[in-house]
Amino acid sequence: MAIIGMESLVYGVEDVDRCSRFFSDFGLQLVTTSDSLAEFTVDEGSRVILRSAMDPGLPCSSLVGTGVREVVWGVDTESNLHALTQSVSSDREVTHDLEGTVHFLADGGLPMALRVFQKRGIASAPDPVNAPGSVNRINSHRKWRKRARPRTIQHVVFTAISFESVYTFMCDRLGFRISDLQTGFGAYLRADGAINHHNLLLLNAGLPFPEFDGQPRFHHANFGVDDIDEIMIGANHMERCGWAKSVLGLGRHRIDSALFYYLPCPAGGEAEYGTDGDYIDDSWVPRVWDEPLFGYFTFAHNMPPFFRHEPEWKFSFLQSAQHPPHQR
Ligand SMILES: [Fe+2]
Repeated sequence: MAIIGMESLVYGVEDVDRCSRFFSDFGLQLVTTSDSLAEFTVDEGSRVILRSAMDPGLPCSSLVGTGVREVVWGVDTESNLHALTQSVSSDREVTHDLEGTVHFLADGGLPMALRVFQKRGIASAPDPVNAPGSVNRINSHRKWRKRARPRTIQHVVFTAISFESVYTFMCDRLGFRISDLQTGFGAYLRADGAINHHNLLLLNAGLPFPEFDGQPRFHHANFGVDDIDEIMIGANHMERCGWAKSVLGLGRHRIDSALFYYLPCPAGGEAEYGTDGDYIDDSWVPRVWDEPLFGYFTFAHNMPPFFRHEPEWKFSFLQSAQHPPHQR
C-alpha cells in the first residue's frame, strides 16, 4: 500500500473570493482565507486549496484553463514516499518543497505531487432504505438534513491528449490499478491504497463534447456525501445561493454505480456531489466498455440528446494479458 487518496487539490482560479464562497456554500469546511488564497478541508483530512491563477507558485504544466492545477497524492509512509519518488525521478525532474512535498509532471504534462498523508477515519450513517417487501425502517422517518457536508474527495478528472500514455505512467510508476476502460473515451484508475472505484479518471480530450477542445484540461472533482438526500439538500442549497444549476441533474453512473450531481464551478470545470459508488479491491476484474455510453449512466434527470437512443448493452472483461504487470 502506498497512495491512499488525495491529500489536496490545488486550484488556480480567477476570483479567489467568489470561488471561496462557492465551496463554502457547497459544504466544504473553511480553514483559512485571504485575498490570494483559501484553504478548505473535508472530514477525511483532504484539502482544497484555491490560489490565484496568476500565482507564480503554481506549477507550469500542459494544463490549460482554470481548475485544479496540481493533484497532491497522499502517501501512507515516509518509506513509500521515498520509493515512489525514486520511481518517478528516474526520467524526470522532481522538486522537494519545505513541507516535504515532492512535485513532478506525470506523462502528458499533468502536474502532480506526493506527500505523506494522515488520512482520518470517517463514519457515515445513511438511512436504511425501504422497498416493497423489504422493510428496513419502521416507525422511523429519514433524517432531516439541513446542508450537505462532503466528507471525502473521491476522484479527480482530467482530459488528456493521449489518456493511454498517462494511465500507463500512473500504473507502471505509481502503482495505480485500472478499474475500467471505456474504449476511445477514457480510463478509470484506483490508487493502490484506496478502495474507491476510481480516484483518477483520464478522458480523451478529443471527444466530441462541447467542453472538449483537444487540450488537456481539468474536468471535475468528486466530493463524497452520505446518500441521495444529502446530494439533493446540497443541490437545493446551491440553487438558493444563486449558483448555476446542473445540466444533467441527478443521475446514476452505470460504470461505478454512483449517484451523481454535477454543478458548474467558478473555480473551473464542475464540482460533483457523489454517493453510493462501488468500492473495489485487487480482486476486481476490470471491464472494457466497447459501447462507452452504456457505461456512462443508467439514468439522468435531464437526459442529453445523445441518450435519446438507448445505447447497446455491451461490455467485456479485460483480458489478463492486457493488464499492467502488477494486475496480472
Ligand atoms: Fe465524477
